[in-house]
Amino acid sequence: MLPQALRLARLDVLHDLSQRLAGESVGGYFGECLDALQSGSSARVGLAFAYDERLELVADRGLPASHQPLSALLRGASTFAERCLATRKPVQSVDLRADRDGVDDAGELLALGTPSVLAVPVLDFRAAVAAFVLLFPSPADVDAETITFARSVANLAALRSQRERRTEIKPTTEEQEQTAHMVSLGLLTATVAHELRGPAGALLLQQEELKRISEQLKLLDDGADPALNESVSELSELSADIGTAVTRVRETVEQLSMVSRREVAPEHVELGEVVAESLSIARPHLERRGVNLSTGFEPGCYTIARRDNLAQVVINLVLNAMDACLDTSPPEVTVRVQTAGEHVALIVEDNGPGVPAAAIPHIFKPFFTTKERGAGTGLGLKICSDVVSAHGGHIEVHERVGGGASFRALLPRARENSGLLALPIAAASRAPRSPVRHKQVLVVDDDPVFSRTIRRSLKPHDVRTCGAASEAQALLLDSRYTPDLVLCDVFLPGANGNLLHARVARQRPEVARRFVFVTGGALGKEEAAYLRASGCTTLFKPVELKSLLELLEDASPASGPPNTVKTLLQEPPSSSNRFG
Ligand SMILES: Nc1ncnc2c1ncn2[C@@H]1O[C@H](COP(=O)(O)OP(=O)(O)OP(=O)(O)O)[C@@H](O)[C@H]1O
Ligand SMILES: [Mg+2]
Repeated sequence: MLPQALRLARLDVLHDLSQRLAGESVGGYFGECLDALQSGSSARVGLAFAYDERLELVADRGLPASHQPLSALLRGASTFAERCLATRKPVQSVDLRADRDGVDDAGELLALGTPSVLAVPVLDFRAAVAAFVLLFPSPADVDAETITFARSVANLAALRSQRERRTEIKPTTEEQEQTAHMVSLGLLTATVAHELRGPAGALLLQQEELKRISEQLKLLDDGADPALNESVSELSELSADIGTAVTRVRETVEQLSMVSRREVAPEHVELGEVVAESLSIARPHLERRGVNLSTGFEPGCYTIARRDNLAQVVINLVLNAMDACLDTSPPEVTVRVQTAGEHVALIVEDNGPGVPAAAIPHIFKPFFTTKERGAGTGLGLKICSDVVSAHGGHIEVHERVGGGASFRALLPRARENSGLLALPIAAASRAPRSPVRHKQVLVVDDDPVFSRTIRRSLKPHDVRTCGAASEAQALLLDSRYTPDLVLCDVFLPGANGNLLHARVARQRPEVARRFVFVTGGALGKEEAAYLRASGCTTLFKPVELKSLLELLEDASPASGPPNTVKTLLQEPPSSSNRFG
Protein backbone atom coordinates (compact mmCIF):
# COMPACT_ATOMS: atom_id res chain seq x y z
CA MET A 1 0.00 0.00 0.00
CA LEU A 2 1.38 3.41 -0.98
CA PRO A 3 1.74 6.12 1.61
CA GLN A 4 -1.01 8.75 1.36
CA ALA A 5 1.51 11.48 0.47
CA LEU A 6 2.81 9.60 -2.54
CA ARG A 7 -0.72 8.88 -3.72
CA LEU A 8 -1.60 12.56 -3.55
CA ALA A 9 1.62 13.47 -5.33
CA ARG A 10 0.66 11.11 -8.17
CA LEU A 11 -2.76 12.73 -8.44
CA ASP A 12 -1.00 16.08 -8.76
CA VAL A 13 1.23 14.68 -11.50
CA LEU A 14 -1.77 13.35 -13.42
CA HIS A 15 -3.65 16.59 -13.03
CA ASP A 16 -0.69 18.61 -14.23
CA LEU A 17 -0.11 16.28 -17.17
CA SER A 18 -3.76 16.35 -18.24
CA GLN A 19 -3.66 20.15 -18.22
CA ARG A 20 -0.58 20.25 -20.36
CA LEU A 21 -1.74 17.59 -22.80
CA ALA A 22 -5.06 19.37 -23.30
CA GLY A 23 -3.23 22.51 -24.44
CA GLU A 24 -3.14 23.48 -28.09
CA SER A 25 0.56 23.44 -28.63
CA VAL A 26 1.88 20.41 -26.83
CA GLY A 27 4.48 18.76 -28.99
CA GLY A 28 6.24 15.49 -28.20
CA TYR A 29 3.60 14.50 -25.69
CA PHE A 30 5.12 11.06 -25.17
CA GLY A 31 8.12 12.83 -23.70
CA GLU A 32 5.82 14.71 -21.31
CA CYS A 33 4.23 11.43 -20.29
CA LEU A 34 7.64 9.97 -19.51
CA ASP A 35 8.45 13.02 -17.38
CA ALA A 36 5.21 12.49 -15.47
CA LEU A 37 5.94 8.80 -15.01
CA GLN A 38 9.38 9.53 -13.64
CA SER A 39 8.23 12.18 -11.25
CA GLY A 40 5.41 9.99 -9.93
CA SER A 41 7.24 6.69 -9.60
CA SER A 42 10.65 5.29 -8.95
CA ALA A 43 11.28 4.27 -12.56
CA ARG A 44 14.88 5.09 -13.31
CA VAL A 45 14.55 4.88 -17.08
CA GLY A 46 11.49 5.49 -19.28
CA LEU A 47 11.21 4.78 -22.99
CA ALA A 48 8.29 5.51 -25.31
CA PHE A 49 7.82 3.45 -28.45
CA ALA A 50 5.26 4.51 -31.05
CA TYR A 51 3.72 1.99 -33.38
CA ASP A 52 2.73 3.19 -36.82
CA GLU A 53 3.33 0.21 -39.08
CA ARG A 54 6.61 -0.32 -37.28
CA LEU A 55 7.87 0.13 -33.76
CA GLU A 56 10.06 3.14 -33.19
CA LEU A 57 11.53 4.89 -30.20
CA VAL A 58 10.03 8.38 -29.93
CA ALA A 59 11.18 9.54 -26.50
CA ASP A 60 13.44 8.46 -23.70
CA ARG A 61 14.15 9.68 -20.20
CA GLY A 62 16.86 8.88 -17.73
CA LEU A 63 19.18 6.98 -20.07
CA PRO A 64 22.79 7.56 -19.04
CA ALA A 65 24.55 9.20 -22.00
CA SER A 66 27.51 6.89 -21.51
CA HIS A 67 25.51 3.73 -21.81
CA GLN A 68 26.71 1.55 -24.69
CA PRO A 69 25.60 -0.22 -26.75
CA LEU A 70 22.33 1.63 -26.90
CA SER A 71 20.87 -0.43 -29.74
CA ALA A 72 21.01 -3.65 -27.68
CA LEU A 73 19.31 -1.91 -24.76
CA LEU A 74 16.59 -0.59 -27.06
CA ARG A 75 16.08 -4.03 -28.56
CA GLY A 76 15.65 -5.41 -25.04
CA ALA A 77 13.11 -2.75 -24.13
CA SER A 78 11.26 -3.14 -27.40
CA THR A 79 10.75 -6.86 -26.64
CA PHE A 80 8.51 -5.67 -23.80
CA ALA A 81 6.85 -3.02 -25.95
CA GLU A 82 6.04 -5.62 -28.59
CA ARG A 83 4.60 -8.00 -26.02
CA CYS A 84 2.33 -5.37 -24.57
CA LEU A 85 1.24 -4.14 -28.00
CA ALA A 86 0.37 -7.73 -28.95
CA THR A 87 -1.65 -8.39 -25.77
CA ARG A 88 -2.86 -4.78 -25.32
CA LYS A 89 -2.22 -5.27 -21.58
CA PRO A 90 0.57 -4.21 -19.22
CA VAL A 91 3.51 -6.60 -19.27
CA GLN A 92 5.78 -6.95 -16.29
CA SER A 93 9.01 -8.71 -15.50
CA VAL A 94 9.41 -8.62 -11.75
CA ASP A 95 13.08 -9.56 -11.75
CA LEU A 96 15.01 -10.06 -14.96
CA ARG A 97 17.88 -11.63 -13.03
CA ALA A 98 15.65 -14.63 -12.34
CA ASP A 99 13.48 -14.53 -15.44
CA ARG A 100 15.14 -13.46 -18.69
CA ASP A 101 13.55 -16.10 -20.87
CA GLY A 102 12.78 -14.81 -24.37
CA VAL A 103 13.99 -11.28 -23.58
CA ASP A 104 16.49 -10.12 -26.22
CA ASP A 105 19.59 -8.48 -24.81
CA ALA A 106 18.39 -8.83 -21.21
CA GLY A 107 22.02 -8.32 -20.17
CA GLU A 108 21.90 -4.73 -21.41
CA LEU A 109 18.82 -3.96 -19.35
CA LEU A 110 20.47 -5.47 -16.28
CA ALA A 111 23.67 -3.52 -16.93
CA LEU A 112 21.72 -0.36 -16.10
CA GLY A 113 20.95 -1.70 -12.65
CA THR A 114 17.24 -1.91 -13.45
CA PRO A 115 16.11 -5.53 -13.19
CA SER A 116 12.38 -4.73 -12.99
CA VAL A 117 10.52 -3.88 -16.18
CA LEU A 118 6.98 -2.65 -16.72
CA ALA A 119 5.45 -1.96 -20.15
CA VAL A 120 2.02 -0.33 -20.52
CA PRO A 121 0.14 0.05 -23.80
CA VAL A 122 -1.31 3.31 -25.14
CA LEU A 123 -4.70 2.26 -26.49
CA ASP A 124 -6.31 4.57 -29.02
CA PHE A 125 -9.79 3.06 -28.98
CA ARG A 126 -8.99 -0.60 -29.57
CA ALA A 127 -5.71 -0.12 -31.41
CA ALA A 128 -2.42 -0.16 -29.52
CA VAL A 129 -0.52 2.83 -30.92
CA ALA A 130 2.38 3.06 -28.49
CA ALA A 131 3.93 1.56 -25.39
CA PHE A 132 5.76 3.01 -22.42
CA VAL A 133 8.55 0.83 -21.05
CA LEU A 134 9.73 1.68 -17.54
CA LEU A 135 12.84 0.27 -15.88
CA PHE A 136 12.92 0.10 -12.07
CA PRO A 137 15.85 -0.48 -9.76
CA SER A 138 13.99 -2.92 -7.52
CA PRO A 139 11.17 -5.46 -7.93
CA ALA A 140 9.44 -3.87 -4.94
CA ASP A 141 8.90 -0.68 -6.95
CA VAL A 142 6.36 -2.28 -9.30
CA ASP A 143 3.18 -2.83 -7.32
CA ALA A 144 -0.48 -2.70 -8.41
CA GLU A 145 -0.76 1.03 -7.73
CA THR A 146 2.30 1.82 -9.81
CA ILE A 147 0.75 -0.13 -12.66
CA THR A 148 -2.53 1.80 -12.26
CA PHE A 149 -0.62 5.08 -12.26
CA ALA A 150 1.30 4.13 -15.42
CA ARG A 151 -1.95 3.11 -17.10
CA SER A 152 -3.54 6.46 -16.23
CA VAL A 153 -0.65 8.30 -17.86
CA ALA A 154 -0.99 6.02 -20.92
CA ASN A 155 -4.71 6.79 -21.06
CA LEU A 156 -3.98 10.51 -21.12
CA ALA A 157 -1.50 9.96 -23.93
CA ALA A 158 -4.15 7.98 -25.80
CA LEU A 159 -6.65 10.83 -25.48
CA ARG A 160 -4.12 13.20 -26.92
CA SER A 161 -3.38 10.77 -29.76
CA GLN A 162 -7.10 10.49 -30.57
CA ARG A 163 -7.40 14.25 -30.65
CA GLU A 164 -4.47 14.52 -33.00
CA ARG A 165 -5.92 11.82 -35.27
CA ARG A 166 -9.30 13.55 -35.34
CA THR A 167 -7.79 16.85 -36.41
CA GLU A 168 -5.71 15.00 -39.01
CA ILE A 169 -8.73 13.58 -40.81
CA LYS A 170 -11.16 16.42 -40.29
CA PRO A 171 -11.77 18.32 -43.53
CA THR A 172 -10.88 21.85 -42.56
CA THR A 173 -10.84 23.69 -45.84
CA GLU A 174 -13.04 24.15 -48.84
CA GLU A 175 -10.52 22.21 -50.86
CA GLN A 176 -10.51 19.23 -48.51
CA GLU A 177 -14.30 19.16 -48.55
CA GLN A 178 -14.24 19.31 -52.31
CA THR A 179 -11.67 16.53 -52.43
CA ALA A 180 -13.95 14.38 -50.28
CA HIS A 181 -16.81 15.32 -52.56
CA MET A 182 -14.80 14.34 -55.63
CA VAL A 183 -13.71 11.05 -54.08
CA SER A 184 -17.28 10.13 -53.21
CA LEU A 185 -18.37 11.29 -56.65
CA GLY A 186 -15.74 9.05 -58.24
CA LEU A 187 -16.96 6.10 -56.21
CA LEU A 188 -20.56 6.96 -56.98
CA THR A 189 -19.97 7.23 -60.73
CA ALA A 190 -18.06 3.94 -60.75
CA THR A 191 -20.92 2.24 -58.88
CA VAL A 192 -23.63 3.83 -61.01
CA ALA A 193 -21.81 2.95 -64.23
CA HIS A 194 -21.38 -0.60 -63.04
CA GLU A 195 -25.03 -0.92 -62.02
CA LEU A 196 -26.32 0.57 -65.29
CA ARG A 197 -24.13 -1.35 -67.68
CA GLY A 198 -25.86 -4.70 -67.00
CA PRO A 199 -29.52 -3.61 -67.45
CA ALA A 200 -28.63 -1.38 -70.43
CA GLY A 201 -26.98 -4.32 -72.18
CA ALA A 202 -30.02 -6.51 -71.44
CA LEU A 203 -32.44 -3.85 -72.73
CA LEU A 204 -30.52 -3.57 -75.96
CA LEU A 205 -30.75 -7.32 -76.54
CA GLN A 206 -34.48 -7.29 -75.73
CA GLN A 207 -35.03 -4.40 -78.12
CA GLU A 208 -33.34 -6.38 -80.91
CA GLU A 209 -35.60 -9.34 -80.10
CA LEU A 210 -38.66 -7.05 -80.29
CA LYS A 211 -37.52 -5.81 -83.68
CA ARG A 212 -37.07 -9.38 -84.92
CA ILE A 213 -40.56 -10.40 -83.70
CA SER A 214 -42.24 -7.40 -85.33
CA GLU A 215 -40.48 -8.17 -88.64
CA GLN A 216 -41.67 -11.81 -88.42
CA LEU A 217 -45.25 -10.68 -87.73
CA LYS A 218 -45.11 -8.42 -90.76
CA LEU A 219 -43.98 -11.33 -92.95
CA LEU A 220 -46.61 -13.75 -91.53
CA ASP A 221 -49.59 -11.49 -92.07
CA ASP A 222 -48.25 -9.82 -95.21
CA GLY A 223 -50.49 -6.76 -94.74
CA ALA A 224 -53.77 -8.71 -94.91
CA ASP A 225 -55.18 -7.42 -91.62
CA PRO A 226 -55.01 -3.57 -91.47
CA ALA A 227 -55.43 -3.47 -87.64
CA LEU A 228 -52.60 -5.97 -87.15
CA ASN A 229 -50.57 -4.10 -89.71
CA GLU A 230 -50.92 -0.88 -87.72
CA SER A 231 -49.97 -2.58 -84.47
CA VAL A 232 -46.89 -4.10 -86.07
CA SER A 233 -45.80 -0.67 -87.37
CA GLU A 234 -46.25 0.78 -83.89
CA LEU A 235 -44.19 -2.07 -82.46
CA SER A 236 -41.38 -1.33 -84.93
CA GLU A 237 -41.43 2.36 -84.04
CA LEU A 238 -41.43 1.59 -80.34
CA SER A 239 -38.53 -0.79 -80.72
CA ALA A 240 -36.54 1.83 -82.68
CA ASP A 241 -37.21 4.46 -79.98
CA ILE A 242 -36.16 2.04 -77.24
CA GLY A 243 -32.98 1.39 -79.24
CA THR A 244 -32.16 5.12 -79.43
CA ALA A 245 -32.85 5.66 -75.72
CA VAL A 246 -30.78 2.66 -74.65
CA THR A 247 -27.89 3.72 -76.86
CA ARG A 248 -27.93 7.10 -75.10
CA VAL A 249 -27.87 5.36 -71.71
CA ARG A 250 -24.92 3.27 -72.88
CA GLU A 251 -22.99 6.34 -74.06
CA THR A 252 -23.60 8.05 -70.73
CA VAL A 253 -22.43 4.97 -68.87
CA GLU A 254 -19.22 4.90 -70.90
CA GLN A 255 -18.61 8.58 -70.11
CA LEU A 256 -19.29 7.95 -66.43
CA SER A 257 -16.81 5.11 -66.31
CA MET A 258 -14.23 7.32 -68.03
CA VAL A 259 -14.54 9.78 -65.14
CA SER A 260 -13.83 7.13 -62.55
CA ARG A 261 -11.26 5.13 -64.50
CA ARG A 262 -7.68 5.66 -63.50
CA GLU A 263 -5.89 2.43 -64.36
CA VAL A 264 -4.66 3.09 -67.92
CA ALA A 265 -0.92 3.76 -67.97
CA PRO A 266 0.50 6.93 -69.58
CA GLU A 267 2.04 6.33 -73.00
CA HIS A 268 3.93 8.18 -75.70
CA VAL A 269 1.17 9.63 -77.89
CA GLU A 270 0.76 11.99 -80.81
CA LEU A 271 -1.69 14.60 -79.61
CA GLY A 272 -3.32 15.17 -83.02
CA GLU A 273 -4.09 11.47 -83.30
CA VAL A 274 -5.74 11.28 -79.87
CA VAL A 275 -7.71 14.45 -80.55
CA ALA A 276 -8.95 13.11 -83.91
CA GLU A 277 -10.07 9.89 -82.20
CA SER A 278 -11.87 11.78 -79.45
CA LEU A 279 -13.61 14.07 -81.93
CA SER A 280 -15.36 11.06 -83.42
CA ILE A 281 -17.34 10.88 -80.15
CA ALA A 282 -18.12 14.62 -80.03
CA ARG A 283 -18.75 15.19 -83.76
CA PRO A 284 -22.29 13.65 -83.92
CA HIS A 285 -23.41 16.00 -81.11
CA LEU A 286 -22.15 19.04 -83.04
CA GLU A 287 -23.69 17.86 -86.30
CA ARG A 288 -27.08 17.32 -84.64
CA ARG A 289 -27.04 20.97 -83.52
CA GLY A 290 -25.75 22.37 -86.80
CA VAL A 291 -22.38 23.52 -85.39
CA ASN A 292 -19.54 23.77 -87.91
CA LEU A 293 -16.38 22.02 -86.79
CA SER A 294 -13.00 22.83 -88.34
CA THR A 295 -9.74 21.19 -87.35
CA GLY A 296 -6.02 21.69 -87.91
CA PHE A 297 -3.43 19.30 -86.47
CA GLU A 298 0.28 20.02 -86.73
CA PRO A 299 2.00 16.63 -87.10
CA GLY A 300 4.66 15.50 -84.62
CA CYS A 301 3.12 16.93 -81.42
CA TYR A 302 4.13 14.23 -78.97
CA THR A 303 3.45 14.02 -75.26
CA ILE A 304 3.28 11.37 -72.54
CA ALA A 305 -0.29 10.88 -71.44
CA ARG A 306 -3.18 8.61 -70.73
CA ARG A 307 -5.26 8.41 -73.89
CA ASP A 308 -8.61 8.06 -72.13
CA ASN A 309 -7.86 11.06 -69.91
CA LEU A 310 -6.95 13.19 -72.91
CA ALA A 311 -10.19 12.15 -74.60
CA GLN A 312 -12.08 13.49 -71.56
CA VAL A 313 -10.33 16.85 -71.97
CA VAL A 314 -11.07 17.07 -75.69
CA ILE A 315 -14.74 16.08 -75.31
CA ASN A 316 -15.38 18.45 -72.39
CA LEU A 317 -13.72 21.44 -74.09
CA VAL A 318 -15.47 20.79 -77.40
CA LEU A 319 -18.91 20.30 -75.84
CA ASN A 320 -18.44 23.50 -73.81
CA ALA A 321 -17.50 25.36 -77.00
CA MET A 322 -20.53 23.92 -78.76
CA ASP A 323 -22.89 24.97 -75.93
CA ALA A 324 -21.39 28.47 -75.92
CA CYS A 325 -21.92 29.22 -79.60
CA LEU A 326 -25.37 27.74 -80.20
CA ASP A 327 -26.95 31.21 -80.30
CA THR A 328 -24.41 32.61 -82.80
CA SER A 329 -25.14 32.34 -86.49
CA PRO A 330 -23.46 30.34 -87.89
CA PRO A 331 -22.08 28.55 -84.79
CA GLU A 332 -18.42 27.58 -85.21
CA VAL A 333 -15.96 25.49 -83.22
CA THR A 334 -12.28 25.12 -84.14
CA VAL A 335 -9.95 22.47 -82.71
CA ARG A 336 -6.21 22.77 -83.32
CA VAL A 337 -3.11 20.97 -82.15
CA GLN A 338 0.28 22.71 -82.40
CA THR A 339 3.63 23.02 -80.71
CA ALA A 340 4.10 25.87 -78.26
CA GLY A 341 7.73 26.09 -77.11
CA GLU A 342 8.40 23.23 -74.73
CA HIS A 343 4.73 22.32 -74.78
CA VAL A 344 2.21 20.88 -77.18
CA ALA A 345 -1.09 22.73 -77.21
CA LEU A 346 -4.66 21.63 -77.73
CA ILE A 347 -6.63 24.76 -78.68
CA VAL A 348 -10.42 24.75 -78.68
CA GLU A 349 -12.15 27.95 -79.83
CA ASP A 350 -15.72 29.01 -80.45
CA ASN A 351 -17.48 32.11 -81.73
CA GLY A 352 -19.83 32.41 -78.76
CA PRO A 353 -19.92 35.29 -76.25
CA GLY A 354 -16.64 34.27 -74.51
CA VAL A 355 -16.18 33.61 -70.77
CA PRO A 356 -17.26 36.64 -68.71
CA ALA A 357 -14.25 38.10 -66.82
CA ALA A 358 -16.09 37.69 -63.50
CA ALA A 359 -16.58 33.97 -64.12
CA ILE A 360 -12.96 33.17 -65.04
CA PRO A 361 -11.70 32.69 -61.45
CA HIS A 362 -14.48 30.15 -60.85
CA ILE A 363 -14.83 28.06 -63.99
CA PHE A 364 -12.26 25.43 -62.94
CA LYS A 365 -13.87 24.91 -59.54
CA PRO A 366 -16.01 21.82 -59.18
CA PHE A 367 -19.78 22.34 -59.52
CA PHE A 368 -19.50 25.85 -60.95
CA THR A 369 -21.90 26.14 -63.87
CA THR A 370 -23.89 28.90 -65.53
CA LYS A 371 -26.01 26.38 -67.40
CA GLU A 372 -29.65 25.74 -66.65
CA ARG A 373 -30.51 23.40 -63.83
CA GLY A 374 -30.00 19.86 -65.09
CA ALA A 375 -28.02 20.99 -68.16
CA GLY A 376 -24.54 21.05 -66.61
CA THR A 377 -22.86 19.56 -63.55
CA GLY A 378 -20.02 22.10 -63.50
CA LEU A 379 -17.45 19.29 -63.46
CA GLY A 380 -16.21 19.42 -67.06
CA LEU A 381 -13.45 22.00 -66.62
CA LYS A 382 -12.49 20.70 -63.17
CA ILE A 383 -11.85 17.29 -64.73
CA CYS A 384 -9.92 18.94 -67.60
CA SER A 385 -7.66 20.92 -65.29
CA ASP A 386 -7.05 17.91 -63.00
CA VAL A 387 -6.11 15.75 -65.96
CA VAL A 388 -3.87 18.35 -67.55
CA SER A 389 -2.06 19.25 -64.34
CA ALA A 390 -1.62 15.56 -63.47
CA HIS A 391 0.26 15.31 -66.78
CA GLY A 392 2.50 18.23 -65.87
CA GLY A 393 0.65 20.84 -67.90
CA HIS A 394 -1.87 23.63 -67.40
CA ILE A 395 -4.91 25.21 -69.06
CA GLU A 396 -5.21 28.81 -70.17
CA VAL A 397 -8.37 30.74 -71.11
CA HIS A 398 -8.14 33.58 -73.61
CA GLU A 399 -10.48 35.73 -75.61
CA ARG A 400 -10.65 34.49 -79.21
CA VAL A 401 -9.59 36.99 -81.83
CA GLY A 402 -12.90 38.19 -83.33
CA GLY A 403 -14.88 37.28 -80.20
CA GLY A 404 -15.57 34.05 -78.36
CA ALA A 405 -13.56 31.83 -76.04
CA SER A 406 -10.19 30.19 -76.61
CA PHE A 407 -9.17 27.37 -74.27
CA ARG A 408 -5.55 26.16 -74.51
CA ALA A 409 -4.49 22.94 -72.79
CA LEU A 410 -0.68 22.89 -72.67
CA LEU A 411 1.10 19.59 -72.08
CA PRO A 412 4.85 18.92 -71.77
CA ARG A 413 6.27 18.09 -75.16
CA ALA A 414 8.00 14.77 -75.78
CA ARG A 415 10.49 13.92 -78.49
CA GLU A 416 9.46 11.62 -81.30
CA ASN A 417 9.97 7.91 -80.46
CA SER A 418 11.20 8.80 -77.03
CA GLY A 419 9.76 8.12 -73.63
CA LEU A 420 11.43 11.23 -72.29
CA LEU A 421 9.72 14.53 -71.76
CA ALA A 422 11.70 17.42 -73.20
CA LEU A 423 13.29 19.60 -70.60
CA PRO A 424 11.75 23.05 -70.65
CA ILE A 425 13.96 25.19 -72.89
CA ALA A 426 14.46 27.87 -70.27
CA ALA A 427 15.81 25.32 -67.84
CA ALA A 428 18.01 23.54 -70.34
CA SER A 429 19.70 26.71 -71.56
CA ARG A 430 20.02 28.28 -68.14
CA ALA A 431 23.62 28.80 -67.00
CA PRO A 432 24.06 27.08 -63.62
CA ARG A 433 25.09 29.43 -60.80
CA SER A 434 27.29 26.81 -59.18
CA PRO A 435 29.14 23.80 -60.56
CA VAL A 436 26.69 20.97 -61.18
CA ARG A 437 26.78 18.42 -58.41
CA HIS A 438 24.45 15.46 -58.43
CA LYS A 439 22.16 16.26 -55.54
CA GLN A 440 19.84 13.91 -53.74
CA VAL A 441 16.16 14.78 -53.88
CA LEU A 442 13.32 12.91 -52.23
CA VAL A 443 9.85 13.52 -53.68
CA VAL A 444 7.03 12.54 -51.31
CA ASP A 445 3.82 12.70 -53.31
CA ASP A 446 1.02 10.23 -53.95
CA ASP A 447 0.61 11.45 -57.52
CA PRO A 448 2.93 9.20 -59.56
CA VAL A 449 2.73 11.45 -62.65
CA PHE A 450 3.96 14.45 -60.61
CA SER A 451 6.79 12.38 -59.13
CA ARG A 452 7.80 10.99 -62.50
CA THR A 453 7.74 14.45 -64.10
CA ILE A 454 10.00 15.82 -61.36
CA ARG A 455 12.34 12.85 -61.72
CA ARG A 456 12.62 13.32 -65.46
CA SER A 457 13.04 17.07 -65.23
CA LEU A 458 15.66 17.05 -62.48
CA LYS A 459 17.95 14.68 -64.33
CA PRO A 460 20.87 14.13 -63.75
CA HIS A 461 20.21 14.60 -60.02
CA ASP A 462 19.46 11.55 -57.94
CA VAL A 463 15.69 11.71 -57.38
CA ARG A 464 13.93 9.14 -55.20
CA THR A 465 10.15 9.02 -54.87
CA CYS A 466 7.77 7.88 -52.13
CA GLY A 467 4.00 7.72 -52.40
CA ALA A 468 3.20 7.58 -48.69
CA ALA A 469 4.35 9.32 -45.52
CA SER A 470 5.16 6.03 -43.77
CA GLU A 471 7.56 5.03 -46.56
CA ALA A 472 9.23 8.46 -46.50
CA GLN A 473 9.47 8.37 -42.72
CA ALA A 474 11.31 5.03 -42.75
CA LEU A 475 13.75 6.43 -45.30
CA LEU A 476 14.31 9.80 -43.59
CA LEU A 477 14.84 8.35 -40.13
CA ASP A 478 17.60 6.14 -41.48
CA SER A 479 20.84 7.94 -40.67
CA ARG A 480 22.48 6.56 -43.83
CA TYR A 481 20.25 8.74 -46.04
CA THR A 482 20.45 12.54 -45.96
CA PRO A 483 18.86 14.12 -49.03
CA ASP A 484 19.70 17.68 -50.08
CA LEU A 485 16.03 18.46 -50.64
CA VAL A 486 12.76 16.81 -49.58
CA LEU A 487 9.86 17.90 -51.81
CA CYS A 488 6.89 16.99 -49.69
CA ASP A 489 3.23 17.13 -50.69
CA VAL A 490 1.05 18.49 -47.85
CA PHE A 491 -1.94 16.19 -48.31
CA LEU A 492 -0.76 12.61 -48.27
CA PRO A 493 -2.59 9.35 -47.67
CA GLY A 494 -2.26 8.15 -44.07
CA ALA A 495 -0.43 11.09 -42.51
CA ASN A 496 -0.09 14.60 -43.90
CA GLY A 497 3.22 16.21 -44.81
CA ASN A 498 3.25 18.41 -41.69
CA LEU A 499 2.97 15.33 -39.47
CA LEU A 500 5.78 13.62 -41.38
CA HIS A 501 7.90 16.75 -40.93
CA ALA A 502 7.17 16.83 -37.18
CA ARG A 503 8.21 13.21 -36.81
CA VAL A 504 11.43 13.72 -38.74
CA ALA A 505 12.16 16.96 -36.83
CA ARG A 506 12.07 15.05 -33.53
CA GLN A 507 14.84 12.69 -34.54
CA ARG A 508 16.70 14.33 -37.43
CA PRO A 509 16.29 18.11 -37.27
CA GLU A 510 19.05 18.55 -39.85
CA VAL A 511 16.90 16.65 -42.37
CA ALA A 512 13.67 18.41 -41.37
CA ARG A 513 15.31 21.72 -42.36
CA ARG A 514 15.67 20.43 -45.92
CA PHE A 515 11.92 20.08 -46.44
CA VAL A 516 10.12 22.09 -49.12
CA PHE A 517 6.36 21.71 -48.92
CA VAL A 518 4.35 21.44 -52.11
CA THR A 519 0.62 22.01 -52.15
CA GLY A 520 -2.10 21.91 -54.74
CA GLY A 521 -4.21 24.70 -53.25
CA ALA A 522 -5.82 26.22 -50.17
CA LEU A 523 -4.36 24.89 -46.95
CA GLY A 524 -6.24 24.11 -43.77
CA LYS A 525 -5.65 26.51 -40.86
CA GLU A 526 -3.57 23.96 -38.97
CA GLU A 527 -1.45 22.97 -41.95
CA ALA A 528 -0.88 26.62 -42.91
CA ALA A 529 0.13 27.51 -39.34
CA TYR A 530 2.47 24.53 -39.16
CA LEU A 531 4.09 25.31 -42.49
CA ARG A 532 4.66 28.95 -41.47
CA ALA A 533 6.15 27.95 -38.12
CA SER A 534 8.39 25.32 -39.74
CA GLY A 535 10.27 28.04 -41.66
CA CYS A 536 10.36 25.77 -44.70
CA THR A 537 9.66 26.96 -48.23
CA THR A 538 6.17 26.27 -49.56
CA LEU A 539 5.57 25.94 -53.29
CA PHE A 540 2.15 25.94 -54.91
CA LYS A 541 1.31 23.53 -57.70
CA PRO A 542 1.80 23.90 -60.59
CA VAL A 543 5.41 24.20 -59.49
CA GLU A 544 7.80 26.22 -61.64
CA LEU A 545 10.86 24.29 -62.72
CA LYS A 546 12.83 27.52 -62.25
CA SER A 547 11.96 27.60 -58.53
CA LEU A 548 12.96 23.98 -58.13
CA LEU A 549 16.31 24.45 -59.80
CA GLU A 550 16.98 27.51 -57.65
CA LEU A 551 16.11 25.65 -54.47
CA LEU A 552 18.36 22.82 -55.54
CA GLU A 553 21.23 25.15 -56.27
CA ASP A 554 20.74 26.88 -52.92
CA ALA A 555 20.62 23.60 -51.00
CA SER A 556 23.85 23.23 -49.12
CA PRO A 557 25.60 19.86 -49.40
CA ALA A 558 23.83 17.28 -47.29
CA SER A 559 26.98 16.56 -45.32
CA GLY A 560 27.66 20.24 -44.60
CA PRO A 561 25.81 22.74 -42.43
CA PRO A 562 22.03 22.68 -42.87
CA ASN A 563 20.25 24.97 -45.24
CA THR A 564 18.88 28.24 -44.02
CA VAL A 565 15.46 27.96 -45.57
CA LYS A 566 13.53 31.04 -46.47
CA THR A 567 9.76 31.29 -46.16
CA LEU A 568 8.45 31.93 -49.60
CA LEU A 569 4.69 31.74 -49.79
CA GLN A 570 4.58 31.98 -53.52
CA GLU A 571 1.35 32.75 -55.33
CA PRO A 572 0.39 30.37 -58.14
CA PRO A 573 2.76 31.45 -60.91
CA SER A 574 1.63 32.65 -64.27
CA SER A 575 4.66 31.64 -66.30
CA SER A 576 4.96 28.44 -68.23
CA ASN A 577 7.52 26.02 -66.72
CA ARG A 578 5.10 24.37 -64.38
CA PHE A 579 4.23 20.97 -62.97
CA GLY A 580 0.82 19.90 -61.73
N1 LIG B 1 -16.36 27.99 -74.32
C1 LIG B 1 -16.96 28.62 -73.31
N2 LIG B 1 -17.50 29.86 -73.47
C2 LIG B 1 -18.09 30.50 -72.46
N3 LIG B 1 -18.20 30.00 -71.20
C3 LIG B 1 -17.69 28.80 -70.97
C4 LIG B 1 -17.04 28.04 -71.99
N4 LIG B 1 -16.62 26.88 -71.45
C5 LIG B 1 -16.99 26.91 -70.16
N5 LIG B 1 -17.64 28.03 -69.86
C6 LIG B 1 -18.18 28.44 -68.54
O1 LIG B 1 -17.59 27.63 -67.54
C7 LIG B 1 -18.60 26.95 -66.80
C8 LIG B 1 -18.06 25.66 -66.27
O2 LIG B 1 -17.79 24.76 -67.31
P1 LIG B 1 -17.76 23.22 -67.00
O3 LIG B 1 -17.43 22.51 -68.26
O4 LIG B 1 -16.91 22.99 -65.83
O5 LIG B 1 -19.25 22.90 -66.52
P2 LIG B 1 -20.56 22.87 -67.39
O6 LIG B 1 -20.23 22.85 -68.85
O7 LIG B 1 -21.42 23.99 -66.92
O8 LIG B 1 -21.20 21.49 -66.95
P3 LIG B 1 -20.66 20.01 -67.33
O9 LIG B 1 -20.33 19.39 -66.03
O10 LIG B 1 -21.79 19.39 -68.01
O11 LIG B 1 -19.46 20.18 -68.20
C9 LIG B 1 -19.77 26.83 -67.76
O12 LIG B 1 -21.00 26.66 -67.08
C10 LIG B 1 -19.66 28.17 -68.48
O13 LIG B 1 -20.23 29.21 -67.70
MG1 LIG C 1 -18.82 21.45 -69.57
